[in-house]
Amino acid sequence: MQGHASVYDALPGVLEEAKDTPVIAAGGIGNGTGIYKALAAGAGGALLGTRFVATVESNAHDEYKKTLTATKGSDTALSMCWQGTIPQLHRAVRNSTFEAWEVAGCPPPGKRPGENDFLYTRADGFEIRRYFIHLPLVSCKGKLSEGAMYAGLGVGEVKDVPPAGELVKRLWAEAGAAYRTAR
Ligand SMILES: Cc1cc2nc3c(=O)[nH]c(=O)nc-3n(C[C@H](O)[C@H](O)[C@H](O)COP(=O)(O)O)c2cc1C
Repeated sequence: MQGHASVYDALPGVLEEAKDTPVIAAGGIGNGTGIYKALAAGAGGALLGTRFVATVESNAHDEYKKTLTATKGSDTALSMCWQGTIPQLHRAVRNSTFEAWEVAGCPPPGKRPGENDFLYTRADGFEIRRYFIHLPLVSCKGKLSEGAMYAGLGVGEVKDVPPAGELVKRLWAEAGAAYRTAR
């Protein structure tokens, strides 16, 4: 369940299918070079999710931001581990919960190890259990590292937690440099 085409591999086919409809490339882009690659391949824009989780302004908990700075794309897994009532694939950091689920043979909801364990609490008192589709927010308290920490394949590019404005400037500079190198 972990192998799949990168955004750059998938783009040509998507652009062909989209014809005149603008395409925004998303998924696994972690720096300005990646933005340039997506635009050069014909995308109308690029969207970065994971990279902006690790910014000062993001509402993610510091433990989540710190984990992202220490995680490589190969430390993540796209799986059915994290799901509630709707079956969905999610890419998240391979943590102790994921590994126990994998060792157990990737069982479906209702049969997952430690299914009802309480992990952490949100500011409004809502209790997050082991496999809940939730992310550690700044207001959450408890065993955050055992819950889902979503991360895209470009997470290896996340090495710090800058202010978002500074990050945008950096991405712009990196994309420009990649463009000038390619000319
Ligand atoms: C904290 C977080 C929460 C996300 N929540 C959702 C979601 O609710 N639904 C969804 O389709 N994708 C969700 N995603 C995946 C984003 O759509 C994905 O991050 C985006 O396509 C950009 O990919 P990237 O994170 O590799 O840059 C989430 C990603 C992160 C990092």
